[in-house]
Amino acid sequence: MCGIVGYVGEREALQIILNSLQRIEYRGYDSCGVLVQDSNEMEIHAHKSMKSIAQLKKNLSKSKYSGTVGIGHTRWATHGVPSRRNAHPHFDSDGEIAVVHNGIIENFQELKEGPLCNCIFKSDTDTEVIPHLIHQTLKKSLIKNATLKDAVRECLPHLKGSYALIVAAKGFDGLVVARKDSPLIIGVGDRENFIASDVPAVLDQTNRVIYLEEGDIAVVKKDSIYIENDAAEVKREEILIPWTIEDAEKGGYEHFMLKEIHEEPKAIIDTLRGYLSEDGLNLGLELEVSSILMVACGTSYYSALCGKYIIEHLAKVPVQVELASEFNYSDFVLNNMMVMAITQSGETADTLMALKKAKRFGCKTVAITNVVGSSATRIADDTIYVRAGPEIGVAATKSFIVQLITSYLLGLSLANMPGRELEERIADLKRMPQLAQLVIDGEDANIQKQARYLSEYDNVFFVGRGVNLPIALEGALKLKEISYIHAEGYAAGELKHGPFALLTKDTPVIAILTRDNIYEKTLVNVKEIKARGAPVIAIAETGDDEVEKYVDRVIRVPRTSAIFSPIPNTVALHLLAYWTAKARGCEIDKPRNLAKSVTVE
Ligand code: G6P
Repeated sequence: MCGIVGYVGEREALQIILNSLQRIEYRGYDSCGVLVQDSNEMEIHAHKSMKSIAQLKKNLSKSKYSGTVGIGHTRWATHGVPSRRNAHPHFDSDGEIAVVHNGIIENFQELKEGPLCNCIFKSDTDTEVIPHLIHQTLKKSLIKNATLKDAVRECLPHLKGSYALIVAAKGFDGLVVARKDSPLIIGVGDRENFIASDVPAVLDQTNRVIYLEEGDIAVVKKDSIYIENDAAEVKREEILIPWTIEDAEKGGYEHFMLKEIHEEPKAIIDTLRGYLSEDGLNLGLELEVSSILMVACGTSYYSALCGKYIIEHLAKVPVQVELASEFNYSDFVLNNMMVMAITQSGETADTLMALKKAKRFGCKTVAITNVVGSSATRIADDTIYVRAGPEIGVAATKSFIVQLITSYLLGLSLANMPGRELEERIADLKRMPQLAQLVIDGEDANIQKQARYLSEYDNVFFVGRGVNLPIALEGALKLKEISYIHAEGYAAGELKHGPFALLTKDTPVIAILTRDNIYEKTLVNVKEIKARGAPVIAIAETGDDEVEKYVDRVIRVPRTSAIFSPIPNTVALHLLAYWTAKARGCEIDKPRNLAKSVTVE
């Protein structure tokens, strides 16, 4: 998704802006642009590229611009094809006001044909209406000596949709920023300040961060930050980000994704540490519920599906799971349920909308997220933080595994089980980091071998049952998004109701064969698959020798009680997806057409 950055200080802005943009490349983009206020010429200069930020850096390596105010943008096209003319920043007709914008202006056409009908538009974007509108507002303003901030404030109510925007103006020694339904932060420095859509963009410069809230407008100068909301000055807390820039970088791994899979055990430890102490388990929120609705998108949706099995098994509390994008326009009957939104980024537009809808219906809402201060946390009544640390690879890995951990914590918090049983379950949970590590240390070489084999095929099925059905779905999603192999996840018992027609010697099937109460049935399903000529790779427990009689290849995972088996199984499937994509030479951290955080509906 688009990213925006800004700088105001005493140093040369250009390199700082370009470096910040490189730090948010992971959000995905198709074009980029930067702008610097040249203090020598009192001009503003913009440069755009259809290639990478590295290319833009190269193009600008000999530029003579010298300026201490700058803005930048990575674009992921929504209105207007990816092109240089559609890349940001966009200007008013006089070229004096420049805007970078993340979000969508839904009524841009209306504005173009109405109040802005005399303006000359140079792009097909929705964004371009903003600088024109600001310009017009400044000219027409009834406020004597209207400032840029006044003009921005006056024109924002005319914009329908979502925005995080940074406005620069010729001769102005600061930047004006505003947000609505799109994230925006200010990094606080010493005689300099930074603006960005996401923390990693500023982390190499400062760990002091202000999260702007809905409706905030701020004027950022090198030694001051003024924030207002509803035309009155407001104070926003400065947060110290506990991550270091090393946390956010690759740390010696070839890809963020591999680093992040290797961080799965630590992410589990960190998440458990936050809620489990010698005094027992405490999620820090009141949990008196008769039923739960979980809403989410993408990988988070699969974690919610798995969460349903986990919570229903441990706590016997009914859980329903809905895709946020479907729930938002459905007639779903919200019957006094607790609504939990699972979202790694806390910014996914569909999920935020679902939270708002649940609130409108008077439900108690909880956000389960990895990002402190994200929009979801501001909307929901309560938040449970998963502690995965920054996740840069577009494909979610460690954030998924700690979302699962949250479901165990929820299930155990809601459970009405004898003390001794609870202790045993908590002990099981505490073993999860160790089991995840065992897969990474003990099975990685074998997984690489199986991945090389898998990489030769174009179609793959993943099957599982019960609590491992969502893990099969997650395995398939992970494989397809980063290796571009067509992969489908299925309930093992369902293949015979259709997909059997596709089984041949060229459609390997990955079967999760945990020794649970339906192990024998899943084994029968595997035999049926084999009988149709499809090769089978089993994910099976160490010591399960039976399985080798029926399958072609085996990936081993440590034994645990069935309800906890999704943890080691997930680690194995994440590694399998990674190594398969690697064997196919794919660009793993930034899969084509995908974005880490989808902030449009
Ligand atoms: C995007 C990402 C997925 C993610 C989904 C939901 O599609 O590429 O990896 O699962 O958004 O994101 P969230 O931040 O809400 O978990």
